[in-house]
Amino acid sequence: MLSVATLLCVSCLLTATQGQERASMWRGNDRGGRCQYSFTVSSPTEASCPTQAGGPEMDTLKSRLSLLEVMVTRLAGGAAASGGPGADVVVQQQQQQQQKLQEAHSQAMREKAQLQRERDGLDRQVQDLQRRLEETRQEAERLRSRPCVQTPPAAGSPQQDSGLRPAGGPNVLSHLVPSGQTGSLRDPSWHYGSPGYQELKAEVTEVPVPTAAYMEVGTGCGELVAIGEPETHRKADTIAGKYGVWMQDPEPVAPYGASMVWRIDTVGSEVKQLFGYENMEQLARGYPTKVLLLPEAVESTGATMYRGSLYYQRRRSRTLMRYDLSTESVAARLDLPHAGFHGQFPYSWGGYTDIDLAVDEQGLWAIYSTNKAKGAIVIAKLNPHSLEVLKTWETNIRKAKAANAFMICGRLYTVASYIAAETTINYTYDTATSQGKALSVPLMNKYGYNSMIDYNPVQRKLFAWDNFHIVSYDVRLGRQQ
Ligand SMILES: *[C@@H]1O[C@H](CO)[C@@H](O)[C@H](O)[C@H]1NC(C)=O
Repeated sequence: MLSVATLLCVSCLLTATQGQERASMWRGNDRGGRCQYSFTVSSPTEASCPTQAGGPEMDTLKSRLSLLEVMVTRLAGGAAASGGPGADVVVQQQQQQQQKLQEAHSQAMREKAQLQRERDGLDRQVQDLQRRLEETRQEAERLRSRPCVQTPPAAGSPQQDSGLRPAGGPNVLSHLVPSGQTGSLRDPSWHYGSPGYQELKAEVTEVPVPTAAYMEVGTGCGELVAIGEPETHRKADTIAGKYGVWMQDPEPVAPYGASMVWRIDTVGSEVKQLFGYENMEQLARGYPTKVLLLPEAVESTGATMYRGSLYYQRRRSRTLMRYDLSTESVAARLDLPHAGFHGQFPYSWGGYTDIDLAVDEQGLWAIYSTNKAKGAIVIAKLNPHSLEVLKTWETNIRKAKAANAFMICGRLYTVASYIAAETTINYTYDTATSQGKALSVPLMNKYGYNSMIDYNPVQRKLFAWDNFHIVSYDVRLGRQQ
């Protein structure tokens, strides 16, 4: 028995010896130049290996893995670029962002639904108003036709005026009117039918009619008597917006509607960008929906918008351009005969404001000067299609003395100063009579550098560009002096 145990033990030893034969020793220099000995013995089980035994390969793998992790996080969220926060923090931030976005989205949806409800409400009101308007119109029609009825209503057709009958039924009239007395018939008819009509007539005459009293009948035109305080719509965000021009087409053409607002920032030598905004709110927010690149650069702030075209002076030339907004191309170009340009006859503020285009109730105009006029303001009425000059007027005010000018109802108005906070419109010239005269209508230059003033005949407002600020003024027109 003992010998068996010894034998077992020996074989055990032998096995161990065989195992130890795989041991090895390695010697080498480490990075510090010290001699390093490594003694390696194979282990029967993996678990007995100390963790460090993973060695440099494992470390390399680990660092590469974490590098990959960082890259993945950056690709996924981009927030960990600073290298500060770990992956967990990044994921957390992303989740927070996601949550915020979701909140913003649902908030926007709620607002949208609210707006929709308000819009529906307004639609209903509009419909209601339209219905009432139609009723009123019909009523007025009935009342108007009433006294003109010359023949007595036939016995069989009392409905014709039943609406105007006093209470008592459709036969009241026939009781009152002896048959055959046509003449007297009209009187009771008048008597019964008249109250409504007379009320209407009274209403009509009692309505205050200032327009008839001090405005030119029919057009709503008249001489400028007052300008309101400026209303600010937007401050330009870049230096290019120190001066510029903004416009609304008084007679828009598809695809653009009446609320579309256009703007050109005119600081710079190659001004070609025309920004379009859906409406005044979008302009105020600074979100254009359209950016058009004009084929030729714009000179200064004299551009205007009319019947689906942008009219402007081509840079360094007396060439007028008509740029069609629907085809996005030049539809007409023509030299304005003898017109000074590029600093020859600017307004007092300079800025190459030699040729100023304007639109009013009567159409398209150019305000400029020529050598022949010796710097006095010349007004030209233009054919809006071809740009040809239809007629010109030579005023007796020097262009260099005016800070700006605009047309209202065929009259030119000039501004005394572009910097004074309290200035005036101090001269007007009427193309209908070819007469000019001094006047004094106060105007406020709120921001102290008013580079553009144009009249919009539909809004009945002055549009202006005052030192980065897009502003408008209400105007009041009155009786001719
Ligand atoms: C208007 O004001 C300008 C600037 O003060 C001045 O030069 C000009 O003579 C004035 N015009 C009239 C008609 O008073």
